[in-house]
Amino acid sequence: MALPEASLCLDRLLLSSFGANYGKQRSLGLVELRCGLRTLGNGTKRCGFRSVSFCRTDERKNLTKRSCFLRCKCQKADSVSGLTADDGRPTSLSINDGNTNGVGTVDGRKIEEEAWDLLKESVVYYCGNPIGTIAASDTSSSSILNYDQVFIRDFIPSGVVFLLKGEYDIVRNFILHTLQLQSWEKTMDCHSPGQGLMPASFKVRTVPLDGDDSVTEDVLDPDFGEAAIGRVAPVDSGLWWIILLRAYGKCTGDLSVQERVDVQTGIKMILKLCLADGFDMFPTLLVTDGSCMIDRRMGIHGHPLEIQALFYSALLCAREMLAPEDASADLLRALNNRLVALSFHIREYYWIDMKKLNEIYRYKTEEYSYDAVNKFNIYPDQIPSWLVDFMPARGGYLIGNLQPAHMDFRFFSLGNLWSIVGGLATVDQSHAILDLVEEKWSELVADMPLKICYPALEGQEWRIIAGSDPKNTAWSYHNGGSWPTLLWQLTVACMKMNRPEIAEKAVMLAERRISRDKWPEYYDTRRARFIGKQSRLFQTWSIAGYLVAKLLLANPSAAKVLITEEDSELVNAFSCMLSANPRRKRGQKGFKQPFII
Ligand code: GLC
Repeated sequence: MALPEASLCLDRLLLSSFGANYGKQRSLGLVELRCGLRTLGNGTKRCGFRSVSFCRTDERKNLTKRSCFLRCKCQKADSVSGLTADDGRPTSLSINDGNTNGVGTVDGRKIEEEAWDLLKESVVYYCGNPIGTIAASDTSSSSILNYDQVFIRDFIPSGVVFLLKGEYDIVRNFILHTLQLQSWEKTMDCHSPGQGLMPASFKVRTVPLDGDDSVTEDVLDPDFGEAAIGRVAPVDSGLWWIILLRAYGKCTGDLSVQERVDVQTGIKMILKLCLADGFDMFPTLLVTDGSCMIDRRMGIHGHPLEIQALFYSALLCAREMLAPEDASADLLRALNNRLVALSFHIREYYWIDMKKLNEIYRYKTEEYSYDAVNKFNIYPDQIPSWLVDFMPARGGYLIGNLQPAHMDFRFFSLGNLWSIVGGLATVDQSHAILDLVEEKWSELVADMPLKICYPALEGQEWRIIAGSDPKNTAWSYHNGGSWPTLLWQLTVACMKMNRPEIAEKAVMLAERRISRDKWPEYYDTRRARFIGKQSRLFQTWSIAGYLVAKLLLANPSAAKVLITEEDSELVNAFSCMLSANPRRKRGQKGFKQPFII
């Protein structure tokens, strides 16, 4: 890959001057990089770093790692505490609707204050600088697993809160440090995944410097899935990174970060990885099971909606940020082509509502031709019985996955909500998705927003599709569990469609229990009555998700930093494709000129 290595290294050296050091814990011990150019096996040159910020062991005496972090946090807290006191925002929503579920009067303002304090406490420091937030701070849990790490996807709502609160440094540091990890040498059993992959998570480790126990240094230790349960590749990390980078620029007005050579290179590496040619017949991104928020086996391999929604949104964000230069012309062409094909594919083939369901019910099958209506050879018998009752007369949604002769009819919340936010769904479809959320409130929201997917896999289906995973039993965790973090994506979608009352209702519901229950990661049962069986408490993205929702309800226009809209070029290209589609001959409404690609 032709990278502007010299400038890349220069940037990295600059970065190292404020304390960057990238170490990696492998079975052979900690591999440390030194400042300077190194030649990798494939001939490309990379920079390594050495930390310039050390912490003396005697300074740490009597301090556990955690309390050392807390010390840093306290210092940080001073600089941000003023924001919460009287920052001009309206008082938080309070409810006392007579049905308090045993909670009594709920003081939204207090809950919001608690959440902000908890979020500040979850900040992780690297060489003295805030760099991310820990996944969970659950001291009651006996098995930490990797919940003591900074997850890329989990940090996004935290990052948005910090942006909305004017705390920009942590987001900038997160963006730049994770970028450094992107080009890390990553292998699993001698195999290296594609360049451009972002880690799922990373940990800040404090280690003795050069075997000298009296001096320590901080190193960043990324996990690209090579240590994660199931060895899942985090396809969503790079996409979320691009989305956050754009939000940073929009919110701060500081475009210098996205304009940096190393950042531009990072964007291009992610795009190249996603746009690389493969065997696919579809414009959707082909991934393995567990490559996103659902990071365990749940039968979402193939072309899951969540990845497609993030992919589309990241493509639009990247298009906005890529510096126009000849060297990027091919990439931009490929990107534009993909945007059009992807939106057409999802809007046409993933969409279901009562009308479409009726069409599928009466599909002819085994159509061998270019102008087949039932292109993917879906057998009507695949329509599950639950869907016949679930589909409301008003509303519709995008299905979870589409493969040859296979539609996964499950409703996946994040994919549907982010399709609204990123504009993958049309305006009508976006409203219809929110209509469905309203119509199916007791199934999708019930006692705690929001179900990760609906319905749960049970019995034989759970055995075959979820591989009998005891963590993913019916109505638990990824299999129909309820995740408070999804409140933030719901709220952004509602703000985009100017329907804040839906988000407001969901937030009020969450406020009844979320603080009393200690901010769980997820809830179990059909109606989300119980705290999840193996749920962590004080899960940071549950806290941050709630805060994003509150901040946006108080200031709806702030949602703009996350929203993307289709431009006229895309609309034209889309209507062109639509009019060529044999399934529905629609008029060329608003058509001006074909998209030149
Ligand atoms: C679980 C979730 C994943 C999340 C991680 C850390 O594995 O499935 O989406 O990133 O926990 O919170």
